[in-house]
Amino acid sequence: MKVDGKAYRTIWVNGDGWSVEIIDQTKMPHRFETVTLTTLDEAAHAIKAMLVRGAPLIGATAAYGVCLALRDDDSDEALDHAYDTLYATRPTAVNLRWALDEMRAALRNLPRGERLAAAYKRAAEICDEDVEICQAIGRHGLKLIRAIAARKPAGEAVNILTHCNAGWLATVDWGTATAPMYMAFEEGIPIHVWADETRPRNQGASLTAWELGRHGVPHTVIADNVGGHLMQHGKVDLCIVGTDRTTASGDVCNKIGTYLKALAAHANDVPFYVALPSPTIDWTVHDGVKEIPIEERGGEEVAQMTGRTASGTIETVTLTPDGSPVANFAFDVTPARYVTGLITERGVAEASAEGLAKLFPERTER
Ligand code: MRU
Repeated sequence: MKVDGKAYRTIWVNGDGWSVEIIDQTKMPHRFETVTLTTLDEAAHAIKAMLVRGAPLIGATAAYGVCLALRDDDSDEALDHAYDTLYATRPTAVNLRWALDEMRAALRNLPRGERLAAAYKRAAEICDEDVEICQAIGRHGLKLIRAIAARKPAGEAVNILTHCNAGWLATVDWGTATAPMYMAFEEGIPIHVWADETRPRNQGASLTAWELGRHGVPHTVIADNVGGHLMQHGKVDLCIVGTDRTTASGDVCNKIGTYLKALAAHANDVPFYVALPSPTIDWTVHDGVKEIPIEERGGEEVAQMTGRTASGTIETVTLTPDGSPVANFAFDVTPARYVTGLITERGVAEASAEGLAKLFPERTER
C-alpha cells in the first residue's frame, strides 16, 4: 500500500541484498520510521517487542530471522537454534510456527553452502504468497460487501466494524480483514469502518485508523465498549476481524475483545466474518478455548498509555493507582458457533470442521 504516494510493504530486503527492513509499528501513528534487522536476535526482538506484529507479518519476519541467522552459521545446530529462538517470541499466532516449519523443511536437506540462498528465496516466497493470499481474501470478502451494499438504499455506506489491526501493517501487504474494505473502496462502494481502539496496545486507534486514513477510507475510531451499542442501533452491517490461530473446527483466536464483539453481533443478528489466511489454520487443534495458548504480556501495557502531547512530544503516562495489580491477556477465542463465515483465499467457508475440510480437503489431519 502507499504511504505519502510511495508503495510500501511491511518488510523487505535492502539494496545490500541481505539486511531486512521493517516499519517500527511501536512508533506509530505519530512517527513513520523503519528499522534495519541484521541479526537473528534483532529479528526475535522485533517480534517480541512488537515492532512488527500481526500473525502473517510475525511469520514473515521469523522467516527472515532464519536467513539472518544462517549468514553467520548454516549448520543444523544454527538452524535449530534460530527456530527455537524465534518460536519463543510470541505464543499465540500460529503463522510463526508455520513459517519456521516452512523454512526448516526448505533448508534441512540441503548441503551447507546452499542453505543461505535458499533461505532468502523461501522467505521472499512466503512474503509474496502472503500478498497473494490477502488479495484473494479481499476478492472473496468484496462479494459479501457488494451484496450488503446492494440491499441498502443507493449511496448509503456499508458500516463495517473491525477489531485490532488486521490491515496491511499486520501482513506483508493489503491485510486480511482490510483487503475487502480496500477493494470495496476502490470499486466505489461507499463504506465506513468502525475501528475499535483495541486496548491495551491500541492497534485499532493507532494502526488501523492510520492506514485507513492514509488510503482515504472513511472510518471512525471507537472505544472498545461501543460496538454492542452500535449494533443494537443498526449501525453495523457486518464485522470483519482477523485471526492469530483458527482451529480445524473453526474456533477463532484473535486479539482480546474479539469474543465480546462476536457475542454482541450474534445477539443483534449482525454477520460476523473472520478473514483467515490458510497459514493461520492450526490443523492440529480442535477446541480453541482449551488448546490455544493465550499470550499474557506485561502489566505496563494496561497500566500505561503512550501518546503525543500538545507540544508534539511523545510521552507515556500511568493510568492505574500505584500498587494495583494488572492482568494483560492478549487474545481470546470466539467459538465457531458465533462466526458467520471464514473468508479464506479459497472462498468463504462455514466455521466448522466440515466447512474448512470442504475448502482444504488435503489438510484434514486427526
Ligand atoms: O498482538 P497483535 O497486534 O500481533 O495482534 C494482532 C491481531 O490480533 C490480528 O487481528 C491478527 O494477527 C490477524 S492479522 C492479519
